[in-house]
Amino acid sequence: MTHGFDTLQIHAGARPDPATGARQTPIYQTTAYVFRDADHAAALFNLQEVGYIYSRLTNPTVAALQERMATLEGGAGAVCCSSGHAAQIMALFPLMGPGLNIVASTRAYGGTITQFSQTIKRFGWSARFVDFDDPEAIEAAIDDNTRAIFCESIANPGGYVTDLDAVSAIADKAGLPLIVDNTSATPYLCRPIEHGATLVVHSMTKYLTGNGTVTGGCVVDSGKFDWSASDKFPSLSAPEPAYHGLKFHETFGSLAFTFHSIAIGLRDLGMTLNPQAAHYTLMGIETLSLRMQKHVENAGRVASWLENHPAVAGVTYAGLPSSPYSDRVARICPNGAGGLFTVALKGGYDACMKFVDGLQIFSHVANLGDTRSLVIHSASTTHRQLSEEQQIAAGAAPNVVRISIGTEDPEDLIADLDQALTAAG
Ligand SMILES: Cc1ncc(COP(=O)(O)O)c(C=O)c1O
Repeated sequence: MTHGFDTLQIHAGARPDPATGARQTPIYQTTAYVFRDADHAAALFNLQEVGYIYSRLTNPTVAALQERMATLEGGAGAVCCSSGHAAQIMALFPLMGPGLNIVASTRAYGGTITQFSQTIKRFGWSARFVDFDDPEAIEAAIDDNTRAIFCESIANPGGYVTDLDAVSAIADKAGLPLIVDNTSATPYLCRPIEHGATLVVHSMTKYLTGNGTVTGGCVVDSGKFDWSASDKFPSLSAPEPAYHGLKFHETFGSLAFTFHSIAIGLRDLGMTLNPQAAHYTLMGIETLSLRMQKHVENAGRVASWLENHPAVAGVTYAGLPSSPYSDRVARICPNGAGGLFTVALKGGYDACMKFVDGLQIFSHVANLGDTRSLVIHSASTTHRQLSEEQQIAAGAAPNVVRISIGTEDPEDLIADLDQALTAAG
């Protein structure tokens, strides 16, 4: 029997605790698990039997969250990790090697652009950034050393909606996996696997937990990519020396990526999610659809009001009828365009700084996707490491403020924005 999203966000992955009957998923605050006997321990370590060994690899609270995430995204499996940025490395790790590259969208979270343009170089990996509204540019950037295509479904900070159908067609033609960061949309608004994504990554720090309490990440695998179709993905298709020549794809089929991420990725990179964080995230996800509906409703009200304000030069919210992406919203994120957008002020950089300082209900923080409304001037903060050209391409120009609309009363948010815009001159 298949269930609806509202049911699955509460029940998927969670069963009454077999030891106690506890209805809420317990926080299994343990590092290790007692083996039945020496044969059991050996079988677990040799991947002949699936079970709990050590919490750097697997933990029952984290496992419940992994199952819930895989279910909500429509994937075969999922691996949780310590942050959204860790999830991006975990997604790339089995695919990449020195000299290999990814093709990524220019419209992405500033930290992602920095991670891909600077930090991954230390592993010998590189990224080529192109405008994902230009299919020919994506195709031109792909070469024999490309191993993945990367974009955000609803991009931070501008709320730009990627045409996932068009991008996945290019990835398919090139025989490459498409990785989609679905943080800003969540699986309630967008299900990238239904649009051809191979892997979906999340910063669970945002809407999934929903109240700014946790740092966490997740990679969901669609289970649909044929890792053995070419010789490009030897970590998944060729014999693995660390497991006596085991071939992950041949042995685990649609769960190859998930098993590899746990048995090799978490084991050796150690970017593990702790059970307490998994618990908070499970609690948050129980109300995901209810919160996202309110985020979308509020964002629509506030963005329409801002669009007509005389101090405002433009609002990027894709849910506005005036947005060039409104047709795409209906196809890619049918439940709404999310709660994140930018507003450009006619007064430029100085007005943006005063506006941010003048807000009272909005919190000035480097986060998004909280029940609280949040604001930040991206160019001087989250996108600070980027050149002005990169900032503009990413939708974070100096005259732009990023807004993450919370679930408060929209009238109160509008009144707060109004007084801060007046104060900003
Ligand atoms: C779209 C997006 N992806 C990834 C990240 C990184 O997530 P984390 O801060 O959990 O590492 C962020 C953080 O802001 C984000 O907004």
